[in-house]
Amino acid sequence: LSESVAEFLYKEEGLNKTAIGNFLGEREEMHLQILKAFVGLHEFSDLNLVQALRQFLWSFRLPGEAQKIDRMMEAFATRYCDCNPGVFQSTDTCYILSFAIIMLNTSLHNPNVKDKPNLQRFVTMNRGINNGEDLPTELLTKLYASIRSEPFKIPEDDGNDLTLTFFNPDREGWLLKMGGRVKTWKRRWFILTDSCLYYFEYTTDKDPIGIIPLENLCVRKLEDTSKTYCLELYNPKGQKIKACKTENKGRVVQGKHQSYKLSAASAEERDNWIEAIRASITKDPFYDLVSLRKRKVISNTSS
Ligand SMILES: *[C@@H]1O[C@H](CO)[C@@H](O)[C@H](O)[C@H]1NC(C)=O
Ligand SMILES: *[C@@H]1O[C@H](CO)[C@@H](O)[C@H](O)[C@H]1NC(C)=O
Repeated sequence: LSESVAEFLYKEEGLNKTAIGNFLGEREEMHLQILKAFVGLHEFSDLNLVQALRQFLWSFRLPGEAQKIDRMMEAFATRYCDCNPGVFQSTDTCYILSFAIIMLNTSLHNPNVKDKPNLQRFVTMNRGINNGEDLPTELLTKLYASIRSEPFKIPEDDGNDLTLTFFNPDREGWLLKMGGRVKTWKRRWFILTDSCLYYFEYTTDKDPIGIIPLENLCVRKLEDTSKTYCLELYNPKGQKIKACKTENKGRVVQGKHQSYKLSAASAEERDNWIEAIRASITKDPFYDLVSLRKRKVISNTSS
């Protein structure tokens, strides 16, 4: 039965693809069986991941609910790996990369996203996702080029870019940071990822000087007399911020900040940082699902 329903949904012309997406995303056993059969009707052998996603995302409209997207992307990744054994070390790798590609589509083609990642950034974002190892740069380069030259087309596009709602708020750049003990401004390279803010002395450093977990924090604009375009990270309960810092000899100690004062190079940059940090603090559940998987896969070295 699941096979014939799946075949109908896959082959019949003129069906409402939004409705198909909602139907396939349901949690009940019957729907899961149909989803599996539906995904099984796609032939992904010898297609690269972007080509396969183009085909898959055209066959229905991805629903907006995190759990539904999760089930569908899981089914997709399983099918892709079955059709293409040896390309990825696990279906989690395929799942995470698929998500990264869908986000890349949004960053490169949605006019509301100002920060367009280059190839290098895309490669960096996907470090270690092949069970602790890096995927071949050649593969990532090809996928990046494909998305850049042509965005994903989705059926029943109403101009509402669904992926914008769980947009990965990662960001990086130079900011001035006010010291915790010694009250001077120092130039630091900041990276926002997975709900943490990391800061480094140089862009090429591997180990950060400090890590600020953003949970339970707030961010706001700050008028500071000594610097322009300031923002502040603070604990709304007035407690000291839980963060850590590496001392000269590599010892990790607790940070000494009541709040973090940062200064950007322009009003626009300050506002973009505030927006990205806010998005990172209140991010979408689907984004959480992906970063959880990502942490698992990166620490899961295959050796
Ligand atoms: C397709 O289905 C969705 C949800 O069921 C509905 O909101 C939409 O109006 C339908 N589109 C058309 C063209 O009928
Ligand atoms: C890809 O980006 C375009 C342009 O923003 C958008 O219309 C489309 O919905 C995106 N596709 C996916 C699968 O997110």
